[in-house]
Amino acid sequence: MRTVYIKTYGCQMNEYDSSRLADLLRESHGLLRVPKPDGADVLLINSCSIREKASEKLFSDLGRLHEWKRLRPEVLIGVGGCVASQEGEDIQRRAPYVDLVFGPQTLHEVPALLHAAQRRQAAIDLRFLEIEKFDNLPMPRAEGPRAFLSIMEGCSKYCSFCVVPYTRGNEFSRPFDDVLAEAAVLAGQGVREITLLGQNVNAYQGRRHDGRMADLAELLEYLSCLEGIGRLRFTTSHPLAFGDRLIDAFAHLDKLVGHLHLPVQSGSNDVLERMKRGHTVEEYKAKIARLRLARRDISISTDFIVGFPGETADDFDATMALIDEMRFDLSYSFAYSARPGTPAAALADDVPADVKERRLARLQAVNLTHARHISEAMIGTVQRILIDREAPRGRGDLSGRTENNRVVNFPAAGRTGLVGRFAAVRILEARPNSLRGELLDLEEPSRLRIDYTVTERYS
Ligand code: SAH
Ligand code: F3S
Repeated sequence: MRTVYIKTYGCQMNEYDSSRLADLLRESHGLLRVPKPDGADVLLINSCSIREKASEKLFSDLGRLHEWKRLRPEVLIGVGGCVASQEGEDIQRRAPYVDLVFGPQTLHEVPALLHAAQRRQAAIDLRFLEIEKFDNLPMPRAEGPRAFLSIMEGCSKYCSFCVVPYTRGNEFSRPFDDVLAEAAVLAGQGVREITLLGQNVNAYQGRRHDGRMADLAELLEYLSCLEGIGRLRFTTSHPLAFGDRLIDAFAHLDKLVGHLHLPVQSGSNDVLERMKRGHTVEEYKAKIARLRLARRDISISTDFIVGFPGETADDFDATMALIDEMRFDLSYSFAYSARPGTPAAALADDVPADVKERRLARLQAVNLTHARHISEAMIGTVQRILIDREAPRGRGDLSGRTENNRVVNFPAAGRTGLVGRFAAVRILEARPNSLRGELLDLEEPSRLRIDYTVTERYS
């Protein structure tokens, strides 16, 4: 069978896109996705341009793929994703051996681009087509009990540092019923946990079949009625669009996990204003306080950018003070990197690189300590996990995830049939990247309700 290798960089939306692209190429070209480039007939990179380092990686990777092509000239190389969207034809100028270029919203055109490339014709399509992509992808093929589901594309927030609105276009939401249908297909394939994806996912406004618009809270409500789905997550949210209905969802939807990723970026109001985030530190804290009223033990993780243009030592101290106060769970932090075409790129990138690195290291050390304390406080507690795979180091152990997204490994004597079941485990030990526990109880597998009586009555 002919094979395709897809290397994915960046966000979970890119991961979702890559797996949908693999589903599509299996249908259109009979290409089987393989985990290594060796011997593959088509080599694709789904690129990321969120930070400088991410886009540099593309060109060093392409150099390596070129080596494969030198050995087998019939191999086709393609670049998709956000660097493709941003650099466009310059990619083929810098790397002439690239055969096809596609953007985040022209995935569905890749089969046609492959045909063109095989005939040595121009194969580049970087249009912003909105919904067309989703309408032209086959239904997903689940790989285990957890799945991503993109419910919207793009972002219209235009934070001053961020390239996403330029590479993925403005926000648009998939129709409500399409999302439900995709979720039902996933549930039917054994998926038990769905993570809804979008760059600004809480801005979701999906048209229903009756023409009415539905928000994320309504979508979550419908999805939690779907038989088979035991857990729901969503990411990434923006604090500004986080309304009361969504906060209330945490109070009354049991299937919605008590965990939320809510990027704050900085603890300084001056910096937040220059970032054009549209909210203050106080407003952020007020949202979290309301969330904690709705779900007392909710765990919050976040993103930070350090060294944004004009960030003073006092600004940075304000960020550290916010971290001390909020005690975030496993969070992400990045040194600011100017992205071409964004408003912040016009500001002087005036925090020296070594200062950025020092601040980043301090911030990451404190964040890590808080996350470790949270893990340690879980020792002795009973957690509900979704068992999702065999544990990596053998011995018949299985592995699952808690609501706050921690990996728990536990002895299971090789009972791999338990993958896909929800279970209660007691946490016994906290390790740097995982927890160890013991299995206490298994929930009954939930079944998809299939109504056979209707067909019987009419046959
Ligand atoms: N839509 C999401 C994710 C955006 S990208 C959101 O609202 O947060 C993920 C993270 O990358 C951001 O939260 C931010 O912390 C970081 N990031 C984005 N642009 C950056 C840049 N130019 N330099 C450094 N970090 C950046
Ligand atoms: Fe980027 Fe801000 Fe949107 S970080 S993805 S512009 S919410």
